[in-house]
Formats: sequence, structure tokens, C-alpha cells
Amino acid sequence: MNLLTRRHLLVAGLGVGSAALAGCSDNSATSPVTPAPATPSAGQKLVQKTVVAKPVTVDLGGPRYATWAYGDSAPGAVLRATAGDFLRITLDNQLPADTSIHWHGIRLNNTADGVPGMTQDPVPSGGKHVYEFTAPDPGTYFFHPHVGVQLDRALYAPLIIDDPQEPGKYDAEWVVVLDDWLDGTGQTPDGVLAKLIADGGTGPSMGGMDHGSHGMGGTQPWGDAGDVTYPHFLINGRVPDAPEVFTAKPGQRIRLRIINAASDTIFTVALGGHRMTLTHTDGFPVVSQEVGAFYIGMGERFDAVVTLGDGVFPLVARPFGKMDGGQALALVKTGAGQAPGRDVSPAELSGEVLMGSQLQPADSARLPGKGVDATEQLTLEGSMKPYQWGMNGAKFGENKPLTVKSGQRLRLNVMNMTMMTHPLHLHGHTFALPSGLRKDTVLLAPMQSMAIDLDADNVGDWAVHCHNIYHAEAGMMIALKYVA
Ligand code: C2O
Ligand code: CU
Repeated sequence: MNLLTRRHLLVAGLGVGSAALAGCSDNSATSPVTPAPATPSAGQKLVQKTVVAKPVTVDLGGPRYATWAYGDSAPGAVLRATAGDFLRITLDNQLPADTSIHWHGIRLNNTADGVPGMTQDPVPSGGKHVYEFTAPDPGTYFFHPHVGVQLDRALYAPLIIDDPQEPGKYDAEWVVVLDDWLDGTGQTPDGVLAKLIADGGTGPSMGGMDHGSHGMGGTQPWGDAGDVTYPHFLINGRVPDAPEVFTAKPGQRIRLRIINAASDTIFTVALGGHRMTLTHTDGFPVVSQEVGAFYIGMGERFDAVVTLGDGVFPLVARPFGKMDGGQALALVKTGAGQAPGRDVSPAELSGEVLMGSQLQPADSARLPGKGVDATEQLTLEGSMKPYQWGMNGAKFGENKPLTVKSGQRLRLNVMNMTMMTHPLHLHGHTFALPSGLRKDTVLLAPMQSMAIDLDADNVGDWAVHCHNIYHAEAGMMIALKYVA
């Protein structure tokens, strides 16, 4: 599967693919390419690191599994820089497979975007690749491969871009990375994908799968939410029986940076006994919004500030629409008290749950006032049985790229024509929802439509795809190309 898809991507990159592909490269002028900055410009700080991708056995707090990771742990070490810095990151590929790194959410030069077949050749086993880019916008991001379903191994790590203007009105910052885990448990992500394609997914292909009615506040008719059954759900690489323990003092204000690095799981997140104030999503500031719980789709990030009570509290990420796989858990400890058990169910989870797209943008995050210059339709299509996913009438490689001219404001009329919820992700840009909210990954409920606007200010060929990595790999992806 992996190989086939990769070959397909490569062929697409060379422009000598199927009739459909040849057809669309005839219609579109050659994209101008953003020149890669080779060195930092005057005054730019250089952040230089090597990321080693390698086979490793990780300890998830008891269970140990052979997997592929960045370094020795899941997640990989936090990569940190300040907005405006120049990053020079060397990927050292010690995996027995091709790989790449995609810097999810960063508005970087196209050549550093890490999509084999679109922005670079895959990095072969034993090879190295240097990524050089400026990280212009502060915020919470992460990085992962853009090859096959490698994200569903331990190949993910937080990328935090600090804001030099940030007042930092908090006492500490905790990075919270969510994941769904199956690698090494007798299955591999590649095996799971092959089985999905051979047998179809677990649910019916159409119709009202009403997992959404189970304690989800009843407001979101979300249908089925995942294809894969996972034995573990993790916060910062730990199973709930051996959770990470964050310690602080009562009354301290904590900034949480929450990243959903899962491949097939939307989570509902709550901190027992607390309300959280959401301050940013996908790197960009929002009008502060107090919540008891919120949904986070694959690829989404939320920053929250919380003032801590006195005791031991569960930070829970509960898989949405998955009834049998437990949940992810960490503990927040500020005082004495008994640690909640693995199945703890904070009251906040059964109250109102906010969806990211309900947030309002901070004024500084709005796109400048300007009319729409061009529109494109973008439909999400597919089914579980057979396991086929696509965009605009075909799977990736056979669908016609979206196009935009540099300088345009492009409106994408997105329509989810399926009975599943999908996190739609755009590379290289942060789009605006109708409210003005800026996102690079947005959840679309079954049959939901949404107009999203982007300013075409970053020349290149960019991926647009579902961040369910199994859907993306099965074809739920399309290119957005800048044309002359
Ligand atoms: Cu994190 Cu193309 O995605
Ligand atoms: Cu999807």
C-alpha cells in the first residue's frame, strides 16, 4: 500500500502520471517555486537541530512496544523556537523505509513542507535531509512524517513557536500530546490500512450511526468518528495506569498546549474540577472562551489557561465515538488526595462540549478586510465499505488540483458528503472560517458545508487533506497549486 501510494505520489510529482493527471497539468501553468532561504537573514536567530527517526522500543508506562520514533520516546522531544527564527533541522532517517517531516501548521516556504511527490523526494532509509525555514507565526504546532501511515507510529513531536510579544500571564506551561496507539501490539499501521482496504471499516457505509448520542451533549449529530480500534490512548506517551503527573501549587495559572497527534481519534478533553479558558487554536488567538470540555480533532491544537485548585485532578481525553477502548489520562497534582483511576469520568465531560469552530477570532487573528477573488469547490467523499475516500470526485492523484493565483483571496466551498466527521487540514496557510476564526485544521460533521477563505500569500504546491491518516492515505487529499 505504502509503496504503491508513494510511487503514485512520485509519478504525480514528475507530471507523467495517468491521463487524468496529464490532463490537469496541461490546464495549469507551471507553478512558480518559492526560493528556499539558504541562510538566516540579518538579525534572525538560527535554531539548529537534528531529528533522528529510528526503530526503537518505547515504554508507555508498563507496556513496551517496538515502533518507530523521533529519538527514544513517544512523543519526540519538544522542538522550540521564537517567531521569526530560522530553523535548520536535519532529518536523519535511520528507519528501514522512506520518510519525511511535515511541519504541521507552519506557514513556511514550500520546499520545506515535507510532502514527497509534491515538495521533495522522499528521504531514503539511511539518508539525511535538511529542512530550512522561517517560522513566522507563534503558536502550538507539531511535526510528523508525510509518508504512508507513519504518523500512527511514534513519529510525532511538539513544535512550539514562542511569541516575543507574549505577556506570559501564567506560572508554567505544560505540553499535552494526545495519541491513539496500536503499533507493535500485534498490529502495525500498514497492516491496519491494508485490512481496512481489503475488508472495509467497522461501521456501515451510510446512514445514522448515532454514537454521537452517547453523552456528547446531544448537540452534534456527528455520526461515526473513527475506523480503527485502538488498544491504548495516550497522553504524552503514557497509558492511564501510569499517567504523567503534572505538579504545581494551588492557585497557579497554567498554560496548556494541547495537541491531537492521533491518527483516527477525535477526543473530548476536560480537566476534572476545573473550567479552562481557551486562548488559541492552531496557533492563532481567539476571544477567550471558558469551557468545561472541548473536542479536538486530529491535527488540531488548543491552548488553554487554567487556575488550579487544591488536590489531585484528572486531565482526561476521551475518544469520541469509540465506546470500548478506554481513554487517555494525565494527573494534575497540587496537593494531597487520592489519584483518580484509569476510568475516571469528570463531570465536565457530560456537560456542554465546545467545538473549535464555535470559537470567535481575536481581532489580531482576522484576515484583512477584502473581497473574495476566486472560489473553488471542495467536496469530501467516501465510504467505509468499500474503504474508499476522495476529494472532488476521485482519490488523490486522480483528482484535479485546486488552483489559485498569488495575491488572491480564495474561498473554498467545502462540503462533507460523507457520514463521518473529518478534520480538514491545509498546508502552508491558516484559513478563516465564516466567523473569521483562523484554523489550519477544522472538523466537518457529516454532511456539513463550510466556506473557508485563505489569502494566497505563499507560492507553491500544497496538500489539502483529511487528517485521519487512514483516510488521507486512502486518497482523501488534493493539491492546491499556485498558477500564473
Ligand atoms: Cu499534519 Cu498533511 O499534515
Ligand atoms: Cu477523513
